[in-house]
Amino acid sequence: MTDTPRPAAHPAEPWSYETTAVQSSIPRGLGQTIGLPIHAAAAFQFDTLEEAQSEFQYNTGLSYARLQNPTVRALEERLTTLEGGAATVAVASGQAATLTAILSVCRAGDHVVSASSLFGGTTGMLGNILPLMGITATLVENTPDAVRAAMRENTRLVWAEMISNPAGDIADIRAFADIAHASGALVAIDNTCGGAGFLARPLAHGADIVSQSLTKWAGGHGSVLGGAVTVGTGHDLTRNPIYTDGGAQSVLSVRGDAALAWRQRWFGAHQLGMTLAPHSAFLIAQGLETLALRLQRESETALALAQWLEAHPRVGKVSYPGLSSHPHHHLAQTYLRGGQGAVLTFEVPDPSAFLSRVRVLRIAPNLGDVRTLVVHPWTTTHARVPEAARHAAGVTPLTIRMSVGVEALADLKADIEQAL
Ligand SMILES: Cc1ncc(COP(=O)(O)O)c(C=O)c1O
Repeated sequence: MTDTPRPAAHPAEPWSYETTAVQSSIPRGLGQTIGLPIHAAAAFQFDTLEEAQSEFQYNTGLSYARLQNPTVRALEERLTTLEGGAATVAVASGQAATLTAILSVCRAGDHVVSASSLFGGTTGMLGNILPLMGITATLVENTPDAVRAAMRENTRLVWAEMISNPAGDIADIRAFADIAHASGALVAIDNTCGGAGFLARPLAHGADIVSQSLTKWAGGHGSVLGGAVTVGTGHDLTRNPIYTDGGAQSVLSVRGDAALAWRQRWFGAHQLGMTLAPHSAFLIAQGLETLALRLQRESETALALAQWLEAHPRVGKVSYPGLSSHPHHHLAQTYLRGGQGAVLTFEVPDPSAFLSRVRVLRIAPNLGDVRTLVVHPWTTTHARVPEAARHAAGVTPLTIRMSVGVEALADLKADIEQAL
């Protein structure tokens, strides 16, 4: 575990990540709840016709909970601070966040360049769903040269995972941003495995959009689904016709600096209705309060297990960005703080036999749970991904993916040893 002090959660915010996670969005005062209240409401009241009219015109307050809810808003504010961004829209799942982020800058005829080391659901969305809307994607090796070579005139977005699921590739965000921005495109980073800004804050390195599944470390207990899209500041939308069409009435002219965030809320929540439920927002906001403790501990355990497995005679290739053998180890040192994540993969001679013997490890297709979860990606999370793309994502028929929980290292080692 590194001793590097955590940076402040927001440039203007003197608090560390840990303090922000438990203090932000909780009002002080007599009788205030010490945790986040759940606003179980589908709609909010107005006193007058004029108030209602104004809210429907400007959408700045509360009207209908598909658009905004105070509990969801408190979570969004907390995430904005933790990611060092300008605004966040929380949605119903990580998959909904991916769709929201892409549709915020792409329309029919547009193109996405994505690193191919990806979560299977994202590969599926890029390959199967977006083409239905006329948006195409090119998946390339996770390197600046490959991204540069794939850029086209109509490329609006470069996409990569901060720490890829499951191979642990690290996005070279600074380089991707330079390439994308030179041609008027934006960079969106899936920061799911970066733990809601704890391990990595892509916006600070030049990314324009952070998309993430909150189902993982943010929720932290395998009890809730959620996702979020956070935007930074200073992104250039002047070369994207979605924002400039219409002249004085264009989205950019009307919304100014808030244009990107506005379009994300408009699409993700308002129009597509992929709204996060207030009960889910509460669970996720509560999960964020202990994320730093969990992910720090899980990263320590993951590194110890990766080193041990790499030396184990019955284990094949081990992939973890904290290992010096990982091709992106140097990028992990540039972009990650406070640990190198809780996910590792390793090859075993017989995955079926291995999984049938585990007693502490649980077989489940999730990440970021307090319990250590294992899965065979080839037959589950990546089963629908074409074989070549599976290999590109670091998945072989022998690969086991492990999301390390908070259990004692000795118990995890003993369980893996007997299962091997
Ligand atoms: C990197 C990454 N992005 C997005 C998702 C989708 O998240 P959700 O399952 O919350 O829709 C996942 C799910 O595993 C993921 O690992």
